[in-house]
Amino acid sequence: MKILVTGGAGFIGSEFVRQAVKNGVETVVIDKLTYAGDFERLKEVKDKINFYKADITNKEFVEYIFKKEKPNVIVHWAAESHVDRSILDATSFINTNERGTQVLLDVAKNSDIKKFINIATDEVYGDLDETGQFYEDTPLNPSSPYSARKASADMLGRAYQRTFGLPVITVRPSNNYGWWQYQEKLIPVVILKALNDEPVPVYGRG
Ligand SMILES: NC(=O)c1ccc[n+]([C@@H]2O[C@H](COP(=O)([O-])OP(=O)(O)OC[C@H]3O[C@@H](n4cnc5c(N)ncnc54)[C@H](O)[C@@H]3O)[C@@H](O)[C@H]2O)c1
Repeated sequence: MKILVTGGAGFIGSEFVRQAVKNGVETVVIDKLTYAGDFERLKEVKDKINFYKADITNKEFVEYIFKKEKPNVIVHWAAESHVDRSILDATSFINTNERGTQVLLDVAKNSDIKKFINIATDEVYGDLDETGQFYEDTPLNPSSPYSARKASADMLGRAYQRTFGLPVITVRPSNNYGWWQYQEKLIPVVILKALNDEPVPVYGRG
């Protein structure tokens, strides 16, 4: 198995890469190294991966990487991932989350991919109602520019599966936290505010 990981220098993607390498999986990483990407996260495995600093919206370069590396599994983490930034300016969210996913799906469709794991988010469901639960068939109701574009990428993946038979698996994780997370995200913000005796931000009714 040869895995191509997008966003592999990000918070979750880098943990995925470290674990894939530890499990002896041949791993190729594509990452644009935006403000949220950091090659340091991959330092312990850097000699064991093929790393490409690349933008997933660059179709020619993505095609080149596919031809050269011939991966058979794609795990697609790359995204603009911070909700608050998407409210300030949605442009990069539309480019990376929607267009970038389309590029990967198009290139994968013309390759010998056995599995395309498309990482979405639970935010595609929007706000929790009084049941306090989401199910796989809960209607999508995204409520920020970030989640709207993630929902679009999620739906595109499912459409490519239905239309072209591309073997896409969609994953909708909820909030993650841990080592190497960028400080702007909810749990680090809450911890840092608490440590500094500052008010902790509360969204909605908390
Ligand atoms: N963190 C969470 O709690 C959470 C929850 C649900 C879903 N997700 C999803 O999981 C994925 C990873 O989340 P994260 O928190 O690790 O994000 P992150 O922001 O830490 O990492 C994203 C990575 O993608 C790279 N990237 C951004 N634009 C790119 C582009 N155009 N081309 C190539 N690389 C690009 C960045 O450089 C960065 O390394 C995202 O798709 C996110 O939507 C995250």
